[in-house]
Amino acid sequence: MSDFYRNLKKAELHLHLEGSIAPATIHEMHPHISIKEVENRYDHADFIGFLDAYKWIVQFLQTPEQYALATRRLLEGLEKQNVRYVELTLSVGVILWKKQDLAAIYTAINREAKRSRIPCFWIFDFIRHFDLGHAMRVAELAAERVNDGVVGFGLGGDESRGRAITYLPAFELARKAGLHLVPHGGETTSAQAVWDALKVGAERIGHGIRAVEDPELLAELRRQNIPLEICISSNVATGAVRDLQSHPLRRIADAGVPIILNTDDPAIFETTLAAEYEKAEQLGFSQSELVDIAANGFRYALHPKFRTTE
Ligand code: ADE
Ligand code: ZN
Repeated sequence: MSDFYRNLKKAELHLHLEGSIAPATIHEMHPHISIKEVENRYDHADFIGFLDAYKWIVQFLQTPEQYALATRRLLEGLEKQNVRYVELTLSVGVILWKKQDLAAIYTAINREAKRSRIPCFWIFDFIRHFDLGHAMRVAELAAERVNDGVVGFGLGGDESRGRAITYLPAFELARKAGLHLVPHGGETTSAQAVWDALKVGAERIGHGIRAVEDPELLAELRRQNIPLEICISSNVATGAVRDLQSHPLRRIADAGVPIILNTDDPAIFETTLAAEYEKAEQLGFSQSELVDIAANGFRYALHPKFRTTE
């Protein structure tokens, strides 16, 4: 691993807390689960296999203290990679599904966030597997914390299970409360999912790589200055792209669409933010282009205090 990308000042804007829990941290929480078992469970062959791994891991987050430990270990790791700003996505939809106490969990994790040397804010997300009522509840919980660390409202899960526009009222509620909208879209299905994300008011789009299939959409993203949160290792590991060399990042960037590099679920995809920059280099990006892409992490930060304007 080259020191250049590890030392580069970076931001992480698309990072799921639950997908960031190292096998050693699960073992620390639950000593009866071996590191090897977690590694085996994290192994997956496709997107559905990845979602199964994600589902498996969330069952071990049972108490606010466990959520806090996951947050602490994650932030410690990011500090070592010179990450200087982070937005962490919390699967609030899943917490509600598990019938857990969101208020207690959020108090515990936000305490860890405030303790960190890295400015750390939260994106609450729900998943397409649930209905509008569920999404509304997540939006309300996010809105209640708009002045207490929550900056965004997101949408994840299996794109083939539902369209973003189904949840328009939840996005509207969140937007009116002052939250930024950052749904996933165009990861595994089609450019239509990116158009849908734009229709609900997305300010950044998680993945969005299918936009490459539609030149009009690329032009629209460029015109509206909407960045794509690109997660190269994730796309390769879930089969969203056939292999590294088929990743459309170069074509998307050449179309003038702003790019941010992220890890998505680094423990499951066995990656780091520095490694994502190295993979972009393998896709033909120069170091100076990647320095500019790293700056995008601050240009498109949701918290105004940490957003750069140059
Ligand atoms: N939740 C966590 N990671 C995700 C991804 N890559 N796509 C959709 N939902 C997710
Ligand atoms: Zn994601």
